[in-house]
Amino acid sequence: MIFIQTLVETSRNFTYLIGDEKTRLAAAVDPAGAVDRILKLAEDHGLKIIYIINTHSHSDHTAGSRELASATNAKIIMHAKAGATKHLPVEDGDVISVGELKIKVIYTPGHSPDGISLLVEDKLLTGDTLFVGECGRTDLPRGSSEELYNSLFGKLVKLDDELEVYPGHDYGDKPNSKLGYEKAHNYTLKPRSQDEFVRFMAED
Ligand SMILES: [Fe+2]
Repeated sequence: MIFIQTLVETSRNFTYLIGDEKTRLAAAVDPAGAVDRILKLAEDHGLKIIYIINTHSHSDHTAGSRELASATNAKIIMHAKAGATKHLPVEDGDVISVGELKIKVIYTPGHSPDGISLLVEDKLLTGDTLFVGECGRTDLPRGSSEELYNSLFGKLVKLDDELEVYPGHDYGDKPNSKLGYEKAHNYTLKPRSQDEFVRFMAED
């Protein structure tokens, strides 16, 4: 797998390019306005972008999706609940095939109702659900601490500790982390009941 994480400095968004070495097909995740940079990376690595996957519909992530789609003929993939432009809606458990790569969709609402995380080989892209050392905020319109709790504690923390976490923003002391490390050190992942978590998020 070709896996490239790039920081968009202005918004501290991470954008990703995930390519299949064999077929040279690729998916761009959260373009974050960095269309020229993504096109250049794809060209440098001999990759053809066939999908643009947005982890949720907040504009700092989706920016440039349509421009990138017109430049590449790629299809925009988002969760079925997303209101923004999408060509292919996905739901929890769906698998996106990029050449021989399989990208599994995990529905992780809470920061927004259309949030998804993506699991590909040993990498977990967590969008704005989980950051290095932090979790997504739930005080934006349509955010829900109850749902974020279920996404974090019901889904993500149950995955393999060895997975590498690749978040939607550079909010931590390093650009990526191991899930097991986050479970042990991320203060938002301390064991809590859902009620305790909701109160904790309200205080924060
Ligand atoms: Fe967001």
